[in-house]
Amino acid sequence: MAAITVDFQLCFIFILLGLFSLFYCGLPLSPPSLPVIGHLHFLLSVPCYKSFQKLSSKYGPLLHLRAFNSPIVLVSSGFMANEVLKTQDLNFATRQREVPIMERSLLFGSFSFVSAPYGDYWRFMKKLLVEKLLGSHSLEQTRLIRAKELKTFRAMLFDKAAEKETVDVGKEMMKLTNNSICRMIMGRKCSEENGEAEQVRGLVTKSLSLAKKFLIASIVGRFFKLVGISLFEKEIMEVSQMYDELLEKIMKEHEENPDKKENIDMMDVLLEVCADDNAEFQISRNQIKALFVELFIAGTDTSAQTTQWIMAELINHPEILKRLRKEIESVVGETRFIQETDLPSLPYLQAVMKEGLRLHPHTPILARNATEGCKIGGYYIGQNTTMIINAYAVLRDPDSWEYPGEFQPERFMTSPSKGKEDERAQLALNYIPFGSGRRGCLGKNLGYIFIGVAIGTMVQCFDWKINGDKVYMEETGEMALHMAHPLKCTLVTRINAASFESADL
Ligand code: HEM
Ligand SMILES: *[C@@H]1O[C@H](CO)[C@@H](O)[C@H](O)[C@H]1NC(C)=O
Ligand SMILES: *[C@@H]1O[C@H](CO)[C@@H](O)[C@H](O)[C@H]1NC(C)=O
Ligand SMILES: *[C@@H]1O[C@H](CO)[C@@H](O)[C@H](O)[C@H]1NC(C)=O
Repeated sequence: MAAITVDFQLCFIFILLGLFSLFYCGLPLSPPSLPVIGHLHFLLSVPCYKSFQKLSSKYGPLLHLRAFNSPIVLVSSGFMANEVLKTQDLNFATRQREVPIMERSLLFGSFSFVSAPYGDYWRFMKKLLVEKLLGSHSLEQTRLIRAKELKTFRAMLFDKAAEKETVDVGKEMMKLTNNSICRMIMGRKCSEENGEAEQVRGLVTKSLSLAKKFLIASIVGRFFKLVGISLFEKEIMEVSQMYDELLEKIMKEHEENPDKKENIDMMDVLLEVCADDNAEFQISRNQIKALFVELFIAGTDTSAQTTQWIMAELINHPEILKRLRKEIESVVGETRFIQETDLPSLPYLQAVMKEGLRLHPHTPILARNATEGCKIGGYYIGQNTTMIINAYAVLRDPDSWEYPGEFQPERFMTSPSKGKEDERAQLALNYIPFGSGRRGCLGKNLGYIFIGVAIGTMVQCFDWKINGDKVYMEETGEMALHMAHPLKCTLVTRINAASFESADL
């Protein structure tokens, strides 16, 4: 009788141990939370990437959180991020899914490409985007468009220098990127006269401010829907409506003038697929519109803000600016303007861009969804878990980067010698300003082009002056990292533009 009791107890202990390791030990550590809402207050705090960074430096690179009942795993090291974004990216190739209430919106809705689940539609569109817009071959074909826009940008800077007017770098960059993208995707400018341009700018800014609300909504949306609050629905639908009107007009123009075959743009390509009953994949008008909205959001502010941050760093580090200028002068020469094709021969400029993106990643937080249960870094991640990857923390992780808070482009000037192979692999692992893997940024090359020619032009042609001796680098923004005090400078021409112009022709 006694023996049976002992066996039973042992058995019980084993079962308990088993359960414990399956359901408890296997999960990543969870920091202290509040009743009911769990860790929601961290997500709501401003800016959340900073509170998350504090959490991870205290408790570790893989943490288990929850918002109400929704499980969230916070990822904060290069190694763990790489597991999610690259090694197991198929399982995390779907972003946070939309909340049902937003079904009809062009923004974050069910027509979206950026939040489309990994599947046929996403694969079809991605292929189109790479082949017709963002791949290196198509970028070559649209080089002239960007060269024209760069020329306008440059002329504007020379004018402002002559008039001693202040330049708002972020704002002017936004014009450059949005004009370029407008012309690349729909073959025309968003015209100044009828305010379309301003409209697009306003909408992009508005969309970005909605992005965090959207992330929270998509994590806790189901709960809120239960209690009958449709989160931010009105705000989002309003913005969506404005985009819709603008794009419908532009689509009609394309359909009415299926003109010049030689100038086929992205809109023509998509409309053709849309009208073709035998196309590999049936896409709708709303899907086209949503894609364009997302290209504006993904392509304009990202490069514009990054350029602004980098210019600010260069003004605060005159010795780096000097070295960069020397490189440009020795590679481009002193008789013509820098252009896109120079970028591959300017390694220091590339290092400056990389370092700028490391310290000021436009998208500090990435959010993915676990399609199936799996293991990351030895821990169990349940199905449908929201993965929050804190790119900001990864890019400033003191375990991966020497002097993580310092602007030191030299860290990216690795020589091509063999011994550095490991070092470069390590760099790549920890370097995620564009995300990584299947779902990583599709516009990375275009982004580097926008930033490269703009920084190159600004450094080559002008000296930059600010009020005071340092640019104030305070951050603002939630899902997008902006400068709290936009960079405003006066500039002094340092080259003989007239002789440059003639060499340029
Ligand atoms: C400095 C410039 C840019 C930065 C820092 C940036 C950053 C990012 C990041 C962090 C993501 C999410 C990646 C992930 O989840 O792993 C992303 C996605 C994306 N980006 Fe960019 N981006 C930039 C420029 C551009 C440009 C110029 C375009 C195109 C016009 C673009 C188009 C996209 C698209 C379409 C996606 C979604 C990809 C998908 O869901 O499959 N980006 N970008
Ligand atoms: C878009 O382009 C126009 C010029 O066509 C420019 O003036 C405007 O500011 C731009 N809008 C944005 C989003 O910056
Ligand atoms: C995850 O979501 C899918 C689809 O909504 C559902 O069928 C499944 O039961 C969910 N899994 C868990 C563990 O909640
Ligand atoms: C993750 O994806 C599944 C299936 O697509 C979905 O049912 C679930 O709601 C998603 N989870 C979150 C938190 O978005």
